[in-house]
Amino acid sequence: MEDIIKKTEKYVMHTYHRFPVCFDHGEGYYIYDINGKRYIDFLAGIAVNALGYHVKPVIEAVDEQKEKLFHVSNLYYIKEQAELAELLVKNSCLDKVFFCNSGAEANEAAVKLARVYGGKKRPNIITMEGSFHGRTMTTLAATAQKKYHEGFRPLPPGFVYVPFNDIDAADKAMNGSVCALFIELVQGEGGINVADFNYVKKLKKLCEERGVLFCVDEIQSGMGRTGRLFSYEWYDIEPDIITLAKAFGGGLPLGAMLAKEKVAQCFKPGMHATTFGGSPFCTKVAKAHLDFLLSSNIIDEVSKKGDYFKKGLQKLKRFPVVKDVRGVGLMLGMELDSNSDSLRNFVLRAMDAGFLLGVAGENVIRFEPPLIIDYKSIDELLVFLEKELVKM
Ligand SMILES: Cc1ncc(COP(=O)(O)O)c(C=O)c1O
Repeated sequence: MEDIIKKTEKYVMHTYHRFPVCFDHGEGYYIYDINGKRYIDFLAGIAVNALGYHVKPVIEAVDEQKEKLFHVSNLYYIKEQAELAELLVKNSCLDKVFFCNSGAEANEAAVKLARVYGGKKRPNIITMEGSFHGRTMTTLAATAQKKYHEGFRPLPPGFVYVPFNDIDAADKAMNGSVCALFIELVQGEGGINVADFNYVKKLKKLCEERGVLFCVDEIQSGMGRTGRLFSYEWYDIEPDIITLAKAFGGGLPLGAMLAKEKVAQCFKPGMHATTFGGSPFCTKVAKAHLDFLLSSNIIDEVSKKGDYFKKGLQKLKRFPVVKDVRGVGLMLGMELDSNSDSLRNFVLRAMDAGFLLGVAGENVIRFEPPLIIDYKSIDELLVFLEKELVKM
């Protein structure tokens, strides 16, 4: 371990504040470090490993495709890509898919498409305070959290920030210069904040009345995480654009931007592209992953497990240090009256005890386990949390 830390510190750029552990393999919702220590994973690679580790249908797809092709250019037709696009369209309210490699790229594509749709007179995009849309310059600008902007200004213009869950502010901001509104219906990095049902309904109506595209960033909340394939399904609305990444690739880097036909047709050949997006390898694996997710009862179980988990967390509100518990499905957060340093220590103590946890926002412990997590593991974590909170 010492050697790995030394090499990483010496040769890898210091863009992460890493925890002192290195993982070797996983099985189900367990992940093992290089010393053989077992952890119950309550973070899933930050909402990536939705089906946990060593997933048979995914491995079979890898095995099959590794003998054929990893990459071919998008200058040619790609069978696996077409099949995955068809599956996505048939299971969403969107009509066309653009494939890329990450969440930031998916949102970049959405920004470009919205700008083309809006035309020269309507370049502006409304985003929500507390949002997170990526780390490229444009998605940073879309991310309405100043702390991510420090040191990188000037950022691309054309983003208007409004408070989350505030319909009057959105109403005021939605003038004739606005082509689109981007929202995470459950904000992930911002601290697990859930959009109110009535707010979203009204927001969607405003967008329709004013010809503004309603774009949902499903990068963290999608692929069953909230108990529906996509979080927008909870709100009984149809977005014009959604973006996917994280769990979408089944562990491989794959992103997508999906749009309604009337919007998608604004992109003409040559207007947007990426070398690797939608490769036969990534799309074959992602389709196997999505097929499995859709053909099992895993997503249906997410709500039940999530409700059980949330109730358990809510009982911990009797400790004064627990300020709030929130979230949907298996995208949950526990806000503590505590600063980020002590949250890091909290996560370290959880690792000692064999649990992987995350942090979101300034003071929220984030729980986003593989969707296959069981009740027994949730109970074990709740016992640990209780013991820790007693000490705090
Ligand atoms: C909601 C949301 N959008 C976009 C992104 C950026 O995705 P990526 O890191 O794949 O670029 C993230 C990553 O955390 C996210 O949670």
